[in-house]
Amino acid sequence: MKLSSLKSKKGTPKVKIDSIADSILGLIREKDSSLFEHNIRVGDLASALAEALGMDEKTVFLTKIAGKMHDIGKLSVPESVLYKRGSYVDVEMDIMKRHSVLGARYLAVAFGIPSAHADGYIDGLIARCREGNKEMPGSRDMIVSGVLFHHEKIDGSGYPSGLKGAKIPLMATILCLADYYIAMREKRAYRDGYDNSTVLELVTSNRNRLFNTPVVDKLCEFIRADRRYKLDASVEGKTRDAQRFFLGRAGNISLSGMYIKTGRITGVGQELVINFAADGSIVDIPAIVSRIDKDGIGVKFIHENGTKVFFENFIMNNYGECDGKHLVHSLFEEAAIYE
Ligand SMILES: [Fe+2]
Ligand SMILES: [Fe+2]
Repeated sequence: MKLSSLKSKKGTPKVKIDSIADSILGLIREKDSSLFEHNIRVGDLASALAEALGMDEKTVFLTKIAGKMHDIGKLSVPESVLYKRGSYVDVEMDIMKRHSVLGARYLAVAFGIPSAHADGYIDGLIARCREGNKEMPGSRDMIVSGVLFHHEKIDGSGYPSGLKGAKIPLMATILCLADYYIAMREKRAYRDGYDNSTVLELVTSNRNRLFNTPVVDKLCEFIRADRRYKLDASVEGKTRDAQRFFLGRAGNISLSGMYIKTGRITGVGQELVINFAADGSIVDIPAIVSRIDKDGIGVKFIHENGTKVFFENFIMNNYGECDGKHLVHSLFEEAAIYE
């Protein structure tokens, strides 16, 4: 990848950035499906936030790419640290904190910086921001700096550089907040995911301390308006027909129905709508509760007029809503409905 092709305004660059990002995402998916899902969610939310903040189309696109790859550096963190249950001792925390620099360096090379010059390139991005020159000239610089600074906090307590407030590139502040929101919603080996309102409270209480205030306000507004994020059930399963399409924790879904882990009680025979969400679109599938057990409920899809609904290549998220009407939401990368 040549810098000129990334800098060019039209045509192929977007495709090339996409294809490089896809290759990298394939690597993440192969190594760690949970990390892959996390990155996809952060890319999805961060780009939606960028758009809601009025950023231009190119920046929204680059924010999505950076979000989808923001934790690539974690693949270089030793598994004993990355998958440790419980809190880190200082040395482990230092190792973990290196993931943003490692990820930025990896991407710099993937986007055409010679390996021998990558450290100098990263140092240059840091120096540039320290001097208050956070506007990045090219697409590559925007993506790499987004990943590099996605753990910077506006009070200067973040890493790797302790940049403060206005010195942090806006894309990085958006990624930081989207990452925080998504990470808190997600289940971890050592804790459950937090519900939507708890995370929004945490976000709001750190407004103007850790996170940029206008970005926090936009996040709260966006999340409150988008039912996809008001979710807290999870979906699991293993039906043979559908299993091959699933990643991570998803499963227990077939062409006729699915199982949904939820603590919220509903009644057998109750009709509901299951919302499968993809980039920019939501597919509502009517269903009926067919059984209840201690962990959740089984539902059968209602196929109207004999229409069959199939899903391909989608990623289930691990939170869902069960308010009797809108029950569960899942993110899928490339939604497809086919015969
Ligand atoms: Fe991270
Ligand atoms: Fe992350």
